[in-house]
Amino acid sequence: MTPPGPDRSCPLELDGVSFAYGRSMVLWDVSLRVRQGEFVAVVGPNGSGKTTLMKLGLGLLQPGAGQVRLFGQEVRSFRSWSQVGYVPQRAQATSALPVSVEEVVVSGLAARTRRFRRLAEEVERIDHVVELLALEGSRRSRMAELSGGQQQRALIARALVTAPQLLVLDEPTTGVDAEARSVLRESLRHLVEVEKMAVVYVSHDPEGFSGLAQRVVEVEGGRMREGHGQPAVQVAKG
Ligand SMILES: Nc1ncnc2c1ncn2[C@@H]1O[C@H](COP(=O)(O)OP(=O)(O)OP(=O)(O)O)[C@@H](O)[C@H]1O
Ligand SMILES: [Mg+2]
Repeated sequence: MTPPGPDRSCPLELDGVSFAYGRSMVLWDVSLRVRQGEFVAVVGPNGSGKTTLMKLGLGLLQPGAGQVRLFGQEVRSFRSWSQVGYVPQRAQATSALPVSVEEVVVSGLAARTRRFRRLAEEVERIDHVVELLALEGSRRSRMAELSGGQQQRALIARALVTAPQLLVLDEPTTGVDAEARSVLRESLRHLVEVEKMAVVYVSHDPEGFSGLAQRVVEVEGGRMREGHGQPAVQVAKG
C-alpha cells in the first residue's frame, strides 16, 4: 500500500496520542482531527489535560506514543509556522512589557517564515486584524495601560497577523467582559466562515463558542469523548 501524501486539508491531527509528565499519565490514546474551516471546542475539568493536548498538537511537548501532524506533516519536521496561530492560556507576560498594542501585533510577523512578499501586504494585514479585534482606538496604547480583555484581544490579533490556517486558543475569554467576548465571537465567525480558518477553542465557558463550534470534544480522566455536551451548531461550509 502506498502511504498517502500530506493531507493539507487537515490542519491538525493527533492520532492515538498518550502523554505523561514524568510518571504522571495525563492522556491515554487520544485522537483528534480538525479539518479546514472547522471550529472545534475542547472542554473538560481543570487539570484534565486540555492545555497539554494543545501543546502536543503544536509540537511543544513530545508524545510518549502516537502521532501528531500539522497540515499532514509530522510535527517534528513541520516548519511552516506562519500557518499556525497560538494564544496560550493566561498569556499575560507581554502585558507587563512597555510595548504598544501595535508593536505586539507586528511582533507576530517576526521570527516567522515570510508569509507576505511585500511590506504593503503586511501593513494591510496588520490593519485588518487590528480592525477585526476592534483595537483601532487602542492601537498606540501601551499594553500595560489596557484592560485584561483588551490585552487578550491584542494577543489574539498577534496570533492572526500571519493569516494562519489554524488557530489554537486556550481559554481566550478568561477575564474578558461581555462586550469583548462578543467582539471575539464575531471575529472568530468571520475567520471560520470567510477565511476558512480551522479553530481549536479550549474553554470552560460554553457561551464563548455556542453557535460557532461544529464539534465539542471533552477531555476527562485522560480520555477524550467526542460530541458530548452542547449540541454542535453547524456552520455553513463554502
Ligand atoms: N509542566 C508540568 N509538569 C508536570 N505536570 C504538569 C505540567 N503541566 C501540567 N501538569 C499536570 O498535568 C495535568 C493536566 O494539566 P493541563 O494544564 O493540561 O490541564 P487543563 O485541562 O488545561 O487544566 P485547566 O482547565 O486548569 O487549564 C494536571 O494534573 C497538571 O497538574
Ligand atoms: Mg489549561
